[in-house]
Amino acid sequence: MTISNAKISAVEMYVPEKILTNKELEKMVDTTNEWILERTGIRTRHICEKGQAASDLAAEAVIKLCKKRGISPKDIELIIVPTVTPDMLFPSTACLLQEKIGADNAWGFDLSGACSGFLFALSVAEKYIQTGIYRRVVVVGSEIMSSIADYTNRETCVLFGDAAGAVLLEPAEEGEKGIIDILLRCDGSGGKYLYMPGGGSLHPATHETVDKKMHYIHQQGRRVFKFAVTEMANISREIMKKNNITSDQVKLYVPHQANMRIIKACQANLGFTDDQIIINIQKYGNTTSATIPLCLYEASQEGRIKKGDYLVLASFGAGFTWGSILLQWEIENS
Ligand code: COA
Repeated sequence: MTISNAKISAVEMYVPEKILTNKELEKMVDTTNEWILERTGIRTRHICEKGQAASDLAAEAVIKLCKKRGISPKDIELIIVPTVTPDMLFPSTACLLQEKIGADNAWGFDLSGACSGFLFALSVAEKYIQTGIYRRVVVVGSEIMSSIADYTNRETCVLFGDAAGAVLLEPAEEGEKGIIDILLRCDGSGGKYLYMPGGGSLHPATHETVDKKMHYIHQQGRRVFKFAVTEMANISREIMKKNNITSDQVKLYVPHQANMRIIKACQANLGFTDDQIIINIQKYGNTTSATIPLCLYEASQEGRIKKGDYLVLASFGAGFTWGSILLQWEIENS
């Protein structure tokens, strides 16, 4: 069996046009622009129109991704869609997306890893490339968090936004490293702090589940916050140590974007300078499995990363789930 590293060979994103500002949220719930900015760092988030689903956002991102790489959707062999907001419980968003973009030669599936979904999905995609089974795998984190946010609950609705971010994985070429190492974790005892209880097999949708708002995000913010600042920093440090990479060798740290204060605490803990970290939560809010590809796309567009740079990706999310990936960026700046 040929073992070759996998590399990210293209990255794209899509956000819906409509923007929801903090000022608009002030009219919907008992909050202020100042509170949201100070406690979360978020200024705006993009929100879908009614009728738009996760597969629609994913389709926009993947079509752009194929164009950028100069391939047809028919060249894709596998599609993995990490998401907590699939179009429906089944069929999978990956199947609906496959039809929408005409990826006739691909199969695919959804993956449930919450805000760590993108890293979990990258790890699966990487194995298919490493083993030589496939040469073109798409991972597209696509979320319509506005579909499960309760816009009468100020503690959650201000945090989230809608977006899709997609990467193409291909075999690394000679001299390229691509994905170097992956560490992933979960701790189910954290499940009670961030969850959506309704609509699954435990509490199938009924009038009662809807009346009790069980189809929305439920969260104990402070518990999640504490977990995030500790574990996202710890696992990032662990992956660097394991691979003998010091923080000054890292060109860009790409943390999950859930709260500016969590990001800043991890930055301080790991000793990264402002030039070594990407933060775009102010524009998009927390887009769950899409935050990391959104960051990769913007860093690449802005010329902040170039071929050969070391990147550390890091996430945490419901489950609890968390993880980190060390990679070498292999895309030439155009
Ligand atoms: N506007 C105004 N006040 C708000 C508010 C809002 N949008 N949301 C909460 N508050 C209030 C609370 O009701 C509370 O009021 P009280 O003191 O009168 O009871 C006060 O602000 C402080 O609440 P607290 O929960 O301690 O605030 P916080 O500083 O922890 O910030 C979060 C709340 C949710 C922003 C923060 O805990 C957080 O980001 N946690 C992590 C969430 C996360 O990352 N989730 C996704 C994981 S992938």
